[in-house]
Amino acid sequence: MIIDIAQNGPWDKLKEVLWLSTHSMEKYEASPAKAAAFQLAQLRVTAAKPAACVMAHARNEQMAGVAALEPSDWESKIYRFLMGKISILLAVGTYTEQLHSYHALLAELETRARAGGLRHLACRVDTRDTAQVHSLESAGFLLMDTTLEYLWKPGLLTPEPPPKWIIRPHQAEDLAPLTKIARTAFTDRMKTRYAEDSHLPLEQTRELYAEWLLESCRGTFAHVVLVAEAAGKPIGFQTYKIDEEFFKATGVALATFGLGTVLSEQRGQRIFPSLLRAVVRWGEGQGVTLSRGRVVVHNLPMQRACQRSGAYVGATFHTFHKWLGSGRPALPCRGVPSGKVSNGQCHSDV
Ligand SMILES: CC(C)(COP(=O)(O)OP(=O)(O)OC[C@H]1O[C@@H](n2cnc3c(N)ncnc32)[C@H](O)[C@@H]1OP(=O)(O)O)[C@@H](O)C(=O)NCCC(=O)NCCS
Repeated sequence: MIIDIAQNGPWDKLKEVLWLSTHSMEKYEASPAKAAAFQLAQLRVTAAKPAACVMAHARNEQMAGVAALEPSDWESKIYRFLMGKISILLAVGTYTEQLHSYHALLAELETRARAGGLRHLACRVDTRDTAQVHSLESAGFLLMDTTLEYLWKPGLLTPEPPPKWIIRPHQAEDLAPLTKIARTAFTDRMKTRYAEDSHLPLEQTRELYAEWLLESCRGTFAHVVLVAEAAGKPIGFQTYKIDEEFFKATGVALATFGLGTVLSEQRGQRIFPSLLRAVVRWGEGQGVTLSRGRVVVHNLPMQRACQRSGAYVGATFHTFHKWLGSGRPALPCRGVPSGKVSNGQCHSDV
């Protein structure tokens, strides 16, 4: 049975399922009780958002699963159609019981999403949750990326070699060159999930990264943007945000890496490991004890840069997308050489 928690509660019963998520937070060194309290607080925030929903699946009068759907307002503005994300999807029990809960929850979420006019859904899943992966696949979601989550502790940073470049907070004059770098760094040779999704036009995806960088510099998406500079010019950057809500709920001072890159002609000189260390040190100055950043599994240069700076892998995720719109193919275009498509529907053609 599906229960609309946002409408009818019972909120306290969700703890029967939310304890599951505490396993995935062990790596952040939050106590299970505080991690569950954080998730519950997050769910309450989600439920209060317009057009969001929080659903539970009950089996034999016990809570068996929980799911939350919320609109992705910022992405919707960039792509100019309504998009949403499944921010929590959890189920307890055996593989078969979990499948049952996930199927029921996903069917309900999709009905709600369609009724709300959403045309695109995203869902990130811990790679250990096989039942969730299989449920998303059978519900028509497509795999867009697999990422490794790296963790940094100030005490584990590798030594910094003698500096050959300056690393400093961004300045107003950096905005134009940094935006130019951001526009192509994540969509060309190295592609993220937005760039892999054939339903998301490439030009808007480039705009998304340019805007992400600008919002980070404005302080909306980041607390700091550190810039690597050589010969008076910015040659790379990294954005970084302190997870204030997580700290309030758990007492763990965690922060998250956002966008980071180095100009293609400057790569291979160990600039990025220096930037990573500088950002972790900046966080340390603010009291941050643990930093995290996700890297696409096939982005080998980035894996090397993370490892070289002293990071270790703490978790692994898959991200799935589902296109709910009509009149466009439900599957990516097939049989067309990369970068050239004939029907004008794939992002690589834009
Ligand atoms: C990932 C990235 C930031 C690394 O920056 P960097 O300053 O080149 O980092 P490093 O110098 O430590 O190089 C990292 C690895 O890439 C290799 N490499 C990649 N491009 C290279 C190039 N053009 N010349 C030489 N080496 C290169 C290096 O050999 C190194 O591996 P190694 O340590 O085994 O020798 C950069 O490649 C980049 O901006 N990529 C595109 C955007 C991106 O992927 N951002 C991260 C998103 S999560």
